[in-house]
Amino acid sequence: MAYTISVVNQKGGVGKTTTSVNLGAALAQRGHRVLLIDMDPQSNLTTHLGLGESLDEEAEEVKDTSLVPEDTIYDVLKGAKKLSEVILNRSENLDVAPSSLMLSGADLELGGIIGRELILKKAIAEVADNYDTIIIDCPPALGLLSLNALAAVESVIIPVQSEYLALHGVRQLLDTIDQVKAVYNPTLQVGGVLICLHDSRKRLARAVYDTIKAYFGELVFDSVVRTNVSLAEAPASGQTIFEYAPRSTGAEDYLAFGEEVIDGKKKACVG
Ligand SMILES: Nc1ncnc2c1ncn2[C@@H]1O[C@H](COP(=O)(O)OP(=O)(O)OP(=O)(O)O)[C@@H](O)[C@H]1O
Ligand SMILES: [Mg+2]
Repeated sequence: MAYTISVVNQKGGVGKTTTSVNLGAALAQRGHRVLLIDMDPQSNLTTHLGLGESLDEEAEEVKDTSLVPEDTIYDVLKGAKKLSEVILNRSENLDVAPSSLMLSGADLELGGIIGRELILKKAIAEVADNYDTIIIDCPPALGLLSLNALAAVESVIIPVQSEYLALHGVRQLLDTIDQVKAVYNPTLQVGGVLICLHDSRKRLARAVYDTIKAYFGELVFDSVVRTNVSLAEAPASGQTIFEYAPRSTGAEDYLAFGEEVIDGKKKACVG
């Protein structure tokens, strides 16, 4: 049975997709069979891995359209496809369930369905034995898509950006996690808070780090992801940080984070 993680924060641009992609890639490198699920209508994870339509118009002319996924997680939520039918193999040990812009209507389209918060959980059960780790990248909203992601997993990773107002909205996020726990998923745990886009040279970043640490205490991962230009560049080339710039600090940070997640998981298993 796969260990399941959702990467959640309703705040935009905090590093959810970067973390999902590169944590997944770090674990895949370590020999884990990894499935990444893109639950964001923006489809950034899908395009980051070179599978979706490029948002870059110049690149689009030369884009190999065979890489644009026909079937996506949208079809799964609608009940038209099984999860196994939309999964693509991206590279060794790394599979992806791609997203599409169609997902932006899911909240409304699924609104009347009983058990709509548990569609993804049921879909994942079909493939869970094929993987060691399943990571779900969430959109910057606490709507039905994120609720499905929270209801489906064992653990939540919360990336926070190392900036002023980093904790803005965190209370609401923790309340939502508690509600999902109470109603749909009693064993849901906050796996940890990951500080992303950290610039240790800035005094403000250090102050923000201290604030986050004071609020979350032990829940803050030891690993910190530093601001690194290669991490910002890699998505445009459709590559993970390990493919794009294996010697960058970004690769170093996500490798270390991968180790920490594996260790934490072991501890969790041992109890
Ligand atoms: N450590 C980093 N250093 C430099 N740039 C980064 C870093 N982490 C993320 N980025 C860049 O910052 C932007 C936001 O990151 P990302 O897309 O991962 O955030 P997100 O939380 O998934 O955003 P959204 O809420 O829109 O889904 C992206 O352009 C990404 O390439
Ligand atoms: Mg994202």
